[in-house]
Amino acid sequence: MTAPSETVLEAEGDAGGDAAAIDQAMLAEVLAGLAAPRKTIASKFFYDAEGSRLFDAITELEEYYLTRAETAVLQQQAADLAERIGPGATLVEFGSGSSVKTRILLDALSGLSAYVPIDISGDHLDAAAKRLAADYGLPVIPLHADYHAPLELPPQVPRDHLLGFFPGSTIGNFEPEDAAEFLRRLRSFLGGAARLLVGADLQKDPARLEVAYDDAKGVTAAFNMNLLVRFNRELGSDFDLKGFRHEAHYDADLGRIEMHLVSLRDQTVTLDGQRIAFAAGETIHTENSYKYTLESFGALAQRGGWRSEASWTDPENLFSVHLLIAA
Ligand code: TRP
Repeated sequence: MTAPSETVLEAEGDAGGDAAAIDQAMLAEVLAGLAAPRKTIASKFFYDAEGSRLFDAITELEEYYLTRAETAVLQQQAADLAERIGPGATLVEFGSGSSVKTRILLDALSGLSAYVPIDISGDHLDAAAKRLAADYGLPVIPLHADYHAPLELPPQVPRDHLLGFFPGSTIGNFEPEDAAEFLRRLRSFLGGAARLLVGADLQKDPARLEVAYDDAKGVTAAFNMNLLVRFNRELGSDFDLKGFRHEAHYDADLGRIEMHLVSLRDQTVTLDGQRIAFAAGETIHTENSYKYTLESFGALAQRGGWRSEASWTDPENLFSVHLLIAA
């Protein structure tokens, strides 16, 4: 997963609000979001160590069908995919994380030239790179970078036959216009002969969507609330964790799940000496997860400079995987 670049706090900074240890860029961004008429927090702040752990737990929840469905599609279509791609490709993955899905591709694609995992979390990246290089006897060239910012392939990467991989419906966490812009950037980064394999969650029964983002065990709630835990620890804020609750709802017109933290009462929170007022029921908007149809995703890909070579779904039509080719 993608995490923000962050200042690692020294041990004493962990106690809360040690001025010297506070990440000023994070503080400024959080303050600005909470000062807006409709309060927001940028979703990149989800992924501290605890947030990353909780996210991994989300992917194993009964309700969170996305990871299982995408994995099933990749397994079912691996042979077809391998035939279309042919031998000798270089696989470039955006937000590689723990690389579970990658192994399906590494198993299926013949004679890969190299694997280039791109992730902002350097520790995870290097550990996963070492394991994959050993297991597959393949040149693994990790790129420690934020793929939201301009990227450059390391010079030793073979670039004549590139296959980009962007799984997890992470494309759905962009606003659609930003998603199109991001696809255009990938198009110019990977070049005119490239292909791109993207996972996108599908529109479906709102009830099914809403439980996927509000599970019975409360793992997604803990993941969302962890933002406040983190700000209390790292920025010295005084959010009352009993004063907010997690909410996920599907907006069918916009085709997106919205995640919010809802204030349970009128209250005031102090952050960096500033008092932030919350009315009862007022929310902090923390994440969007857009859901597409096969058609609407194809249209998005086209706006992003790609055309769809193939689209696959799981037997329940929950999730889609698209093989795009540079247009
Ligand atoms: N892209 C995935 C999704 O939208 C993962 C994700 C991002 C997520 N933020 C999340 C999952 C918040 C649960 C909660 O589903």
